[in-house]
Amino acid sequence: MDKSREKLLHDDDVVEVVDGEEVQERGRSGKKYSSFSRFILFLSLAANFVFLLKNFSHPTLGPVSKSKYAGLTNDVDIPYAWDTDRSNPNDTERNALWYEDGESNEGILAMDYEEAEMFGLEKSQPWPWDKKKSIHITNGHHNMHCLRNIYISINEYSQGIPQSLERMHVLHCLGALYDDIKCNADDTPRFTHKVGLRPGEGQIRKCRDWSKLRAWVKERDGCFKYIKHDVKDISTIERMKYCSNDSKYLPKIRKFFGYPEDWTPWPYVEQVDYLKKEDE
Ligand SMILES: *[C@@H]1O[C@H](CO)[C@@H](O)[C@H](O)[C@H]1NC(C)=O
Ligand SMILES: *[C@@H]1O[C@H](CO)[C@@H](O)[C@H](O)[C@H]1NC(C)=O
Repeated sequence: MDKSREKLLHDDDVVEVVDGEEVQERGRSGKKYSSFSRFILFLSLAANFVFLLKNFSHPTLGPVSKSKYAGLTNDVDIPYAWDTDRSNPNDTERNALWYEDGESNEGILAMDYEEAEMFGLEKSQPWPWDKKKSIHITNGHHNMHCLRNIYISINEYSQGIPQSLERMHVLHCLGALYDDIKCNADDTPRFTHKVGLRPGEGQIRKCRDWSKLRAWVKERDGCFKYIKHDVKDISTIERMKYCSNDSKYLPKIRKFFGYPEDWTPWPYVEQVDYLKKEDE
């Protein structure tokens, strides 16, 4: 008998293709599909179909649910990666990404009090350039900021240079990320290999579009830039004047700091003097 055999599953549960007809062997017993097992298979497929239909038509589950604030949906297919640019073994290239990360300044929102109230958010401190707005930071950006702090701490340790961040700040970040992982209780099963390496690598998952979160924040620009992060006595308002060049708040900012009419926040110029906390 001319058999073209093809192993489709692993050894103890083999599916063989014999002359184009599918035959299943259970272990080494060599039992073929009975009409009863075909019936069970049919039932199981039907149950799967009903289950899928139920899930994808349910408005609060999976990819169709919307986040509460920016209205983001999990509609981007991104595979789990094992190694990324952020884990690149080349110190120069990896450090450039972590240290010169413009996004680490983002996430501060100047949100209208009305909008904050509509969302049911707790009252937050006023934004200096418009008293109808209050200052918030997105949790996603706070997480990013924390991760970057942990990176900086580890990098300083491995290069034998003094720690630029207080230990308590780094520990706060570890605790915050730990809690966030638990809060999200991500239930995605990552596949595993027999050898146990790299679970889930390449497996597609549904992600929210981070660029849409950035755009949502930009629409409520808090004008924050984390300048002089190692300076402890700098007044927060010094970090809140980095609106875009065409912002309607520039006249107010110039007036507050006594800057000339042609002053623009960008390009950034390193400051020598700055307002101190005790001057506030
Ligand atoms: C690391 O990257 C830098 C910048 O791309 C490159 O000049 C350098 O040769 C790389 N170092 C190693 C060890 O590959
Ligand atoms: C901001 O304005 C200054 C002065 O007009 C200009 O040189 C700079 O390119 C602008 N920067 C951005 C990011 O728009």
